[in-house]
Amino acid sequence: MLRTQVAIIGAGPAGLLLGQLLHRAGIGTIILEQRSKDYVLARIRAGVLEQGAVGLIEEAGASARMRQEGLVHDGTEIAFGGVRYRIDFQALTGKTVMVYGQTEVTRDLMDAREAVGAPTVYEALDVTIHAADTDRPSVRYRKDGHETDIACDFVAGCDGFHGVSRQTIPEHALRTYERVYPFGWLGILVDKPPLSDELVYVNHERGFALCSMRSATRSRYYLQCGLDEHLDDWPDDKFWEELRRRLDPEAVARLQTGPAIEKSIAPLRSFVAEPMRFGRLFLAGDAAHIVPPTGAKGLNLAASDVAYLSRAFVEWYQRNSMAGLDTYPRRALARVWKAERFSWWMTQILHRFPESSGFDGKLQAAELDYLFGSKAAQTVLAENYVGLPY
Ligand code: APR
Ligand code: PHB
Repeated sequence: MLRTQVAIIGAGPAGLLLGQLLHRAGIGTIILEQRSKDYVLARIRAGVLEQGAVGLIEEAGASARMRQEGLVHDGTEIAFGGVRYRIDFQALTGKTVMVYGQTEVTRDLMDAREAVGAPTVYEALDVTIHAADTDRPSVRYRKDGHETDIACDFVAGCDGFHGVSRQTIPEHALRTYERVYPFGWLGILVDKPPLSDELVYVNHERGFALCSMRSATRSRYYLQCGLDEHLDDWPDDKFWEELRRRLDPEAVARLQTGPAIEKSIAPLRSFVAEPMRFGRLFLAGDAAHIVPPTGAKGLNLAASDVAYLSRAFVEWYQRNSMAGLDTYPRRALARVWKAERFSWWMTQILHRFPESSGFDGKLQAAELDYLFGSKAAQTVLAENYVGLPY
């Protein structure tokens, strides 16, 4: 039997960030991660950080490399009908975003946790949560054939969409909301300079495309693809050929192609589970909500959840007040639903829906035309993209 104050399930960005912020407040945590460290770090995920997330990573003491290697972007471009339109975040909101891979954020948080000697159990299998609806919860896991129990005050479920935490909440105590989109994103990672200094989101009659990056020498490209398509259908050459078809001539001229160092297809889904709490079990990040990647909100929502949750735990341990923990679900969900709306809207205006009618197509074109011609509409996009206040 081990003992800690907050048992955290999952060593993704949500669990690691929470672990660091609580450690800095003198609150004890143990993180249980079912996979190995290398497996977690091998995941390729997005990489656009709101200023709020950047600030939290700083507060967690894991920002040195991000400050050195991260790319600050003042804006982004949207291409439609072969023309690119720039959305100037800086001018419209006074704010910017940071392009820095989620894998790097995860690595920096892992290093920061190791540096302070806070415990993480990797390859912790068959994690189960017990008595979450009492004031003496516990978590059990198996490692190297041994079972261990951890007695704790609280459990933070940061174990992603497929984790055990949300599944522990009885069905009668949980409401879920979901939208599954009729297409996926085929992504490729290549060690070639990006074709533009900023991200380029593309609405094309052949489908959506996105030109992103990880650094000045590593680029990330995405194509909207059918859900029935397989990676075998997409040799590198076919990917580059299809991308060229969806880009404007200037982008094609600047595109540098090469062998994929990673290639994957991801489905698109919007999902929210309410409330993000069951007794002394609190959900954060993908364990409670999923957004389609079009709005670059996945990691940023995990960060805002952790901002609210870490401050609520500090309020409990320093002032013996449950107020923050009791209001956590309402506060976190209010921001989650705004990001869900923005991510759904970005997906609506930038993708081609198989079942859409001519009328839908005209509406989409009018929405984009309005966006490109209206400072007010661009400001709405910009303030959601750079991140709404916590
Ligand atoms: N026991 C222990 N660990 C688990 C379990 C379990 N039963 N199930 C899942 N995990 C671990 C996973 O292996 C993973 O490392 O929990 C971690 C969850 O991490 P993420 O899926 O990265 O979720 P989160 O930390 O909430 O980060 C959200 O990730 O998917 C992106 O777009 C998303 O950017 C967002 C971010
Ligand atoms: C990425 O860089 O992988 C990325 C960027 C922006 C998005 C989605 C993904 O909206």
